[in-house]
Amino acid sequence: MIGDIRNIVILTGAGVSAESGLATFRGPDGLWEGHRVEDVCTSEALARDVELVHRFYDERRAKLIEVTPNAAHEALAALDRAWGGELLIVTQNVDDLHERAGAKRLIHMHGELKSALCAACGKAVAWPGPLPPASVCDGCSRPSLRPDIVFFGEMPYEMERIDAALRDADLFVSIGTSGAVYPAAGFVQTARHVGARTLELNLDPSAGSFYFEESRMGPASKLVPDLVQELLG
Ligand code: APR
Repeated sequence: MIGDIRNIVILTGAGVSAESGLATFRGPDGLWEGHRVEDVCTSEALARDVELVHRFYDERRAKLIEVTPNAAHEALAALDRAWGGELLIVTQNVDDLHERAGAKRLIHMHGELKSALCAACGKAVAWPGPLPPASVCDGCSRPSLRPDIVFFGEMPYEMERIDAALRDADLFVSIGTSGAVYPAAGFVQTARHVGARTLELNLDPSAGSFYFEESRMGPASKLVPDLVQELLG
């Protein structure tokens, strides 16, 4: 699997943060921290019940203080530091555990808990604490700040950069994601199309498991350090 690889794209999902104590999106009950995803992760939900949506992300943001990066985040950060070729970590996670572990070549394609987005002018601003509805944007002075989360139906961030990296990739690795949400679920197909090797690391086979050349099943805290060791040889 590993020989002759220079350019790597790594996709991570909620499974990479599970062992840090953050709930995955699709729990056994199908709920995300007790809520239906459509009640907290759509622009319709935000329009219908702004208090609930802001409170939900305030709670998720506050929870970040209680958790720390695990061995999977640490190993990916070590790979980022040591890897001489191109490397891009694309996370669907809105937590900050990759960057707290030290990863630099990182894209948060679904937004970030510790950021607020102005619905009026599009300016994003670092936001470490609670975000009351109608908070004022310092760019356009309108009371339009919302959580900087890519809701269902919205375009994920940096898709052009991600697509370019996938097209140059020799290896695509998907870690801890159920493969239920596009466009991220389709990255493996782009990678295969350009002839990259494809590897999945997950607790259970994902929805698109059959697209991967190789699947390794187990906890990210074990599988990711092992892979990084293999890559750094
Ligand atoms: N190690 C590896 N994988 C794990 C672990 C672990 N310790 N624990 C759970 N997993 C796996 C699960 O088996 C599951 O396949 O992580 C996956 C998590 O899947 P989801 O909860 O669906 O999360 P994710 O794929 O990141 O969700 C994608 O959906 O709601 C949206 O925008 C949200 O970014 C999110 C997107």
